[in-house]
Amino acid sequence: MALTVQEAIKKRRSFKKMNGQRVPESKIVSILEDAVWAPNHGMRNPWRFVVAGGDRYDKIITLLRDVTIPNWAQLPEEEVTTQMQKFTQAGGVVFVLVPEDMRQKQRLEDFAAASALVQNAQLLAVAQGVGTCWKTPVFLDAPKFREAIGAKDGERVMCMLQFGYADEQPAARERKPLEEVMTLFGE
Ligand SMILES: Cc1cc2nc3c(=O)[nH]c(=O)nc-3n(C[C@H](O)[C@H](O)[C@H](O)COP(=O)(O)O)c2cc1C
Repeated sequence: MALTVQEAIKKRRSFKKMNGQRVPESKIVSILEDAVWAPNHGMRNPWRFVVAGGDRYDKIITLLRDVTIPNWAQLPEEEVTTQMQKFTQAGGVVFVLVPEDMRQKQRLEDFAAASALVQNAQLLAVAQGVGTCWKTPVFLDAPKFREAIGAKDGERVMCMLQFGYADEQPAARERKPLEEVMTLFGE
């Protein structure tokens, strides 16, 4: 049975441990097709995606190895395997690119809109039984990585959204109670 919006929001977790099962690229693309219905001011559609699922994900793993462990060839294979687990455990990825508008207002709006899109994608994935993790590793800004994925001048790679499956649903991490973060105006 389909999840309600409330159920999807509360069920969504960041999957930090996945089992390596590949996610069909068509599934990721269909999630993005719906995720782009995120609000965005001025209809600037402030996003672009570089997607790798299914077999293509292997090529991304090779790139991530070369970018994040430049001396991998000199290291013992097990060490490289261990360091690469954070990538090999996933089954697909979307890199989200956002224009860096020179005007601060527009830049913040565009970043906010892209964030809404990422959350949409995560919730759509929940509904399809696919796990996700929104990550912002430092290599997203590395020139070699940017060049390899075709990031243009004036574009920021705002996140790596991993897709995959896990043997166990991650545990929920409690949020601050609403009373701590909410004031009823005038009280
Ligand atoms: C902007 C943003 C950046 C994040 N970056 C990372 C990251 O680099 N690595 C990571 O493991 N999780 C990252 N996360 C996931 C958070 O750690 C996660 O949302 C938080 O622990 C709460 O867990 P939950 O999503 O399962 O509720 C990021 C989340 C957001 C919104």
